[in-house]
Amino acid sequence: MQEMLGIKNPIGRSTIGHVTKPEVDISHGPILYLEDISVSFDGFKALNGLCLTVDAGELRCIIGPNGAGKTTMMDVITGKTKPDSGTVFFGQSIDLSRMNEPQIASVGIGRKFQKPTVFENHTVFENLELAMKYDKSVLKNLFSKRKQSQIQKITETMEIIDLVDQADRLAGLLSHGQKQWLEIGMLLMQEPQLLLLDEPVAGMTDDETEKTAKLFKSLAGDRSLVVVEHDMEFVAEIASTVTVLHEGSVLAEGCMEDVHSNERVIEVYLGR
Ligand SMILES: Nc1ncnc2c1ncn2[C@@H]1O[C@H](COP(=O)(O)OP(=O)(O)OP(=O)(O)O)[C@@H](O)[C@H]1O
Ligand SMILES: [Mg+2]
Repeated sequence: MQEMLGIKNPIGRSTIGHVTKPEVDISHGPILYLEDISVSFDGFKALNGLCLTVDAGELRCIIGPNGAGKTTMMDVITGKTKPDSGTVFFGQSIDLSRMNEPQIASVGIGRKFQKPTVFENHTVFENLELAMKYDKSVLKNLFSKRKQSQIQKITETMEIIDLVDQADRLAGLLSHGQKQWLEIGMLLMQEPQLLLLDEPVAGMTDDETEKTAKLFKSLAGDRSLVVVEHDMEFVAEIASTVTVLHEGSVLAEGCMEDVHSNERVIEVYLGR
């Protein structure tokens, strides 16, 4: 099984919900390493020697023009797209390039796509409950009474995403922003160590965007976040380090101020 998951030398295991999963080795600092990743679509290089390292607990923002390769990068991390060359490691020892999408999700990487995908005909509470991980023995008991610990975990998550007062509301009746937060809550139920979020504030009101900034800042630290966004105000609000992608590789990286004043970044993305 470990061989199948591409784990060379796991340093321990942790219990998440009721499922054991390998402990990611962050003893050297980084939780994600992309090294020299290239991806071609019909000869077009969507990623071209991309190198990126994200530290454990970091909130990293990725910006760059349309077609720069940001979503493709997330596809590579989550196993949706296999790179033509290069390596992807989760911590020191988990080789993601040898794993498929479900395996990558199971080691602790959660991904949020732009469009919210909640169960519209279920309540907020039920959506979070459905997102919980169960092992087979628990599945057998699924129709028995909900465990107190599960209710507590769902309640804690509703507090984090500020939907406690919407617990019994059908997800389909929530605002766009609330649906996005619910989906983030559903990811949190799986206790991921790394969260990938692609354009999370697109379509949100200013208030919702502001609230999302607070949410992301509170989530970082205990876990790592990689956020792709075009909303520069939002990025300036949350990011410590910003990586600028252009034509499939890193054009610039640093604090928002440095990136903002970088001549090449202004030329290809920010404009004058
Ligand atoms: N499955 C695919 N088949 C062919 N070309 C693809 C595929 N996926 C992405 N591309 C191309 O690769 C390039 C990078 O696309 P990608 O979606 O990663 O860009 P992006 O940085 O996320 O852009 P945006 O800001 O518009 O979301 C684009 O030119 C795109 O058309
Ligand atoms: Mg994209």
